[in-house]
Amino acid sequence: MGKTIIISNRLPVQLQISNGDITAIPSVGGLATGMKSVHSGGDSLWIGWSGLTDEEIPKALAPKIDKALSEHGSSKVNLTADEVDGFYFGFSNRTIWPLFHYFLEYSEFELDNWNIYKQVNQKFADAILKVANDDDIIWVHDYQLMLVPQMVREKKPNISIGFFLHIPFPSFEIFRTLPWREEILEGLLGSDLIGFHTYDYERHFLSSVRRLLGLEVSFNDIHMDERVIKVDSFPMGIDYKKFSEAALKNQNTPPGEQSELQRRLYKHKKTDPDAKFFLSIDRLDYTKGIAKRLNAFEYFLNKYPQYKEKVRLIILAVPSRSNVPQYQLLKREIDELVGRINGEFSTVSWTPIWYFYRSMPFENLIDLYTTCDIAWLTPIRDGMNLVAKEYIATRTDRTGVLILSEMAGSANEMNEAILINPNNFEQTADALNQAITMPVEEQQERNRVLQKRLERYNVEKWANDFMGSLLDQKEKDFSHVAR
Ligand code: ADP
Ligand code: G6P
Repeated sequence: MGKTIIISNRLPVQLQISNGDITAIPSVGGLATGMKSVHSGGDSLWIGWSGLTDEEIPKALAPKIDKALSEHGSSKVNLTADEVDGFYFGFSNRTIWPLFHYFLEYSEFELDNWNIYKQVNQKFADAILKVANDDDIIWVHDYQLMLVPQMVREKKPNISIGFFLHIPFPSFEIFRTLPWREEILEGLLGSDLIGFHTYDYERHFLSSVRRLLGLEVSFNDIHMDERVIKVDSFPMGIDYKKFSEAALKNQNTPPGEQSELQRRLYKHKKTDPDAKFFLSIDRLDYTKGIAKRLNAFEYFLNKYPQYKEKVRLIILAVPSRSNVPQYQLLKREIDELVGRINGEFSTVSWTPIWYFYRSMPFENLIDLYTTCDIAWLTPIRDGMNLVAKEYIATRTDRTGVLILSEMAGSANEMNEAILINPNNFEQTADALNQAITMPVEEQQERNRVLQKRLERYNVEKWANDFMGSLLDQKEKDFSHVAR
């Protein structure tokens, strides 16, 4: 067996130029944070986009960029500003992302963007073909690169190709509205194995294949020409050890070495031991339900006025895709909501919402996870949601309550959390009350079960299951052709 080539739009780090020099900052998002753990443990090459356009890279810095990426086992695909515009901001994030998350009204069907998407997918395929041998394993990730499997297959018919989709695959009724639906399916079917987070996404995909391409599907095998393509669900886990160990270290940090954030949170807890902190961490994305959460918080404060001056909502929203108009509108909406709710409820000694619009270093994420009593995550639609899993992994004494939207893929594996419908404010307000009043023993019992599951089905197990299944599939395929 040869090497593994991971390919995704985002690399584990994003490059930025400041003061004429290159800095590499960790990428945010489930794909990058999850795959980073897999990548650092093995012998793999990761190909992707650096985050900089060709126009932004001064010639003199080009060798430095390659060196910075190779330190992270990565190499880059060069994209021009026009390509980033049409492929990334355009087709990926103005067509596929909203459509696959059931925001049909946000989805734009622009022929020019589709053409650039094809052209850029070919660039990624060519980057693979340049370095791949027949015995290598190619692992393609996510909705930005759905045509790549077929493009590689055309040139290397016998190579092993796996594809994993990190976002939902929508129902046939939604998917069928895409003008280029057959091409997308055919692109994906260049793979030997196609993986999804949940059984529902898998079922939706198989239904689209059957109804749009008329292919024979038996159980979870698709028969196409001489090939058999396997489709399966692999719920992605987290690097459990990394989070639980970081939490232990964080709690044992001597006061003099604590971060400003940790110090402040501890101080608040000491002054008022009954006060409760609610936490939400998301990219600033309309699928995450941040605006709904703010409205639900207002509803909660009105329904349970006894909690005024007792609870605080910390919102950490990471800037994301800020060239896309829907994200700009959402930013404005959230700014306004936070301002209005704080204006309405604040007292001289209490601000109900602490709102941070920025990315934070890993250590600060851990500060928040370990000190907040309740994690409150309300996506309207989410492929998985790893933040929910990370929160539980950091609760070393097993206290803490997770309130999670049932629309997140992770809700399938986290029945011990309080599951809510984010559109139901009444239920959400009651869930917050239930979380605040939940006895410690009950919190610990729920988290004990969750932690055991998350520790076992960690990101390494997820990657091994996927890889094992891909190798099995290849063997089956060979014996099928040999017969
Ligand atoms: P998505 O992939 O849609 O962004 P997930 O919840 O699955 O949502 O993954 C988000 C990932 O990004 C998590 O692993 C989380 O730790 C990381 N992350 C979120 N916010 C930050 C932040 N401010 N700084 C660094 N990493 C972050
Ligand atoms: C989700 C997607 C990833 C993407 C991430 C961050 O997790 O599934 O493919 O990388 O969001 O979004 P961005 O557009 O910054 O890469």
